[in-house]
Amino acid sequence: MSLEKLDATQIRPEISGIAPYRYTLDGGGRHAVQKLIDETDAKLLLEVGVYLGGSCYDWLEHSESLHVIGIDTWADTYDARQDLTRYREINLSCFRYIDDIDAFIESTSTHGFYKSALANMSVFGDRFHPYRGAAPDVLYEIRDLGVQPDIVYIDSAKNRINLDAAYECFPEARICGDDWTWGASLGHPMQQAVNSFAEENGFRARASGATWVLDKVS
Ligand SMILES: C[S@@+](CC[C@H](N)C(=O)[O-])C[C@H]1O[C@@H](n2cnc3c(N)ncnc32)[C@H](O)[C@@H]1O
Repeated sequence: MSLEKLDATQIRPEISGIAPYRYTLDGGGRHAVQKLIDETDAKLLLEVGVYLGGSCYDWLEHSESLHVIGIDTWADTYDARQDLTRYREINLSCFRYIDDIDAFIESTSTHGFYKSALANMSVFGDRFHPYRGAAPDVLYEIRDLGVQPDIVYIDSAKNRINLDAAYECFPEARICGDDWTWGASLGHPMQQAVNSFAEENGFRARASGATWVLDKVS
């Protein structure tokens, strides 16, 4: 499947000179998605909610024949310095692949989320395809470009909106995502969303850590 049409819709800013970093927000269970990539011999994964590319890194590193379309608004409405400094205080493991945390925070604050994400993904050459915009609308745009991913990974809104849209646009794709363990005090909204979607559409959810995967019930 050609992704040239999709790539042509995107403005790619200059990122030469921006250092790549591997920042990771991993709540566990990503091996389940990597196994799904292997089992389905996936060539194209679409991720909703890329941020700085931590999970995309895990998919692209795992399979050398995989391409990833990464959707995000990459809105610079919140301060990267504040965001990353706060994480430095609460979860140092996010920085475990980064030698110079100060330089990473400085670079990301200077260049913003979008350019930083592109720089972080540049280590995978042309296998990362950014798509800047807000889901769920962009899922319909991508479908209308004639693109059908093998896997959709959802890591943004903690509700059903992107699940429903992903299934409508890409009915053959395997659907999985993050945030299974998110929001205990709110009653685990993603678990509720995934389970209600599964029940209505003939799927069963399985989870490992923060990661969930839907299987069709035959
Ligand atoms: C938790 S972060 C994603 C983390 C990333 N998958 C990782 O593992 O490093 C959530 C991301 O979703 C993006 N996001 C939120 N609402 C969105 C929407 N409607 N469409 C696209 N991206 C959205 C945010 O900009 C943010 O970067």
